[in-house]
This record gives sequence, structure tokens and C-alpha cells, in this order.
Amino acid sequence: MRNILVVNGSVSGDASVSRALVEVAVQRLLGINPDASVTHRDLSHGAVPHLTPATVAGVRAVANTDHELSTQALSDELIAELQAADVVVIGAPMHNFSIPSSLRAWFDHVLRRRVTFSYSEAGPKGLLTSKRRHMRSFDPPW
Ligand SMILES: Cc1cc2nc3c(=O)[nH]c(=O)nc-3n(C[C@H](O)[C@H](O)[C@H](O)COP(=O)(O)O)c2cc1C
Repeated sequence: MRNILVVNGSVSGDASVSRALVEVAVQRLLGINPDASVTHRDLSHGAVPHLTPATVAGVRAVANTDHELSTQALSDELIAELQAADVVVIGAPMHNFSIPSSLRAWFDHVLRRRVTFSYSEAGPKGLLTSKRRHMRSFDPPW
């Protein structure tokens, strides 16, 4: 486990509960491997925008216009971060009974057919198979 990717959609700044929980998780992972690198993808400032008719071709990697090309560049960058990660820690606070829309926009940018997922007879399947699946609750630090 060498690369840890941290993705967080909180808009609470320093008061964020999910950031504190994510930090506990990251410190535990660093306790296992102190040499691991940590990449932070903070979604709270709108750096990963929602898709529009002018940009959606970019996430599908069929870009032509400038808007589509810059969206494809961002999508490529986010996919590369995800592919490089051995562990992904996602801070997902509840916003209106769902995940934050910024986190949904991140998923819209990293889900690309034939790159991160594909369709099979059995339905959609993930292509980032080197990652282990863990859903684990960490005790809060208080
Ligand atoms: C826009 C918004 C919508 C929210 N919607 C819900 C909700 O539907 N249900 C809920 O239990 N809490 C909701 N909350 C409260 C957050 O889940 C709670 O404040 C949580 O601590 C946010 O995580 P954070 O501290 O890491 O930002 C909402 C908060 C915000 C800012």
C-alpha cells in the first residue's frame, strides 16, 4: 500500500466532521505504512464542476471543443489519481439524504466506459480490480 487518495465533499471547512474521520483513517493507514504518499482531492471549492451539454463529451473522451478538451483533461487527471491509488478514502457527509453533489460530480468525471468500468452480460463491472473493497467504520477521535 503506497498511494492513498483522499476525496472529500464536505463544505464545513475546519468544522467538518467527515474531515476529522478521514484524518483518523489516513493516520491509521500511515501507521501501517509510514512511507505511503497521500493525495488530497478537496471538492469543496467547485474544482470538479457539474457536467453540462458543453462539457459532457470530455468525460467520455470524445472531446472536440475547448470546453470539452479541458473537461477531458480534468477527467484524465482524476482517473489517473484513482488508478494510482492503492487505497481510496472517501469523506461523504450526508447532504439532503444523499452524497454531496460535488462528490457526485467527481464520480461523473472518473466513470469512463472501457477505462474504469465496462458493460458485460452480467451488467456493469469495475475495471480497477487491484483495489480491495473495505467498508469500515472508524471510531471517532472523541
Ligand atoms: C447542504 C446540507 C444538507 C444536509 N442534509 C442532511 C440530511 O439530509 N440529513 C442529515 O442527517 N444531515 C444533513 N446535513 C448535515 C450534515 O450531514 C452534517 O452537518 C455533517 O456533519 C456534514 O459533514 P461535515 O461536517 O464533514 O461537513 C446536511 C448538511 C448540509 C450542509
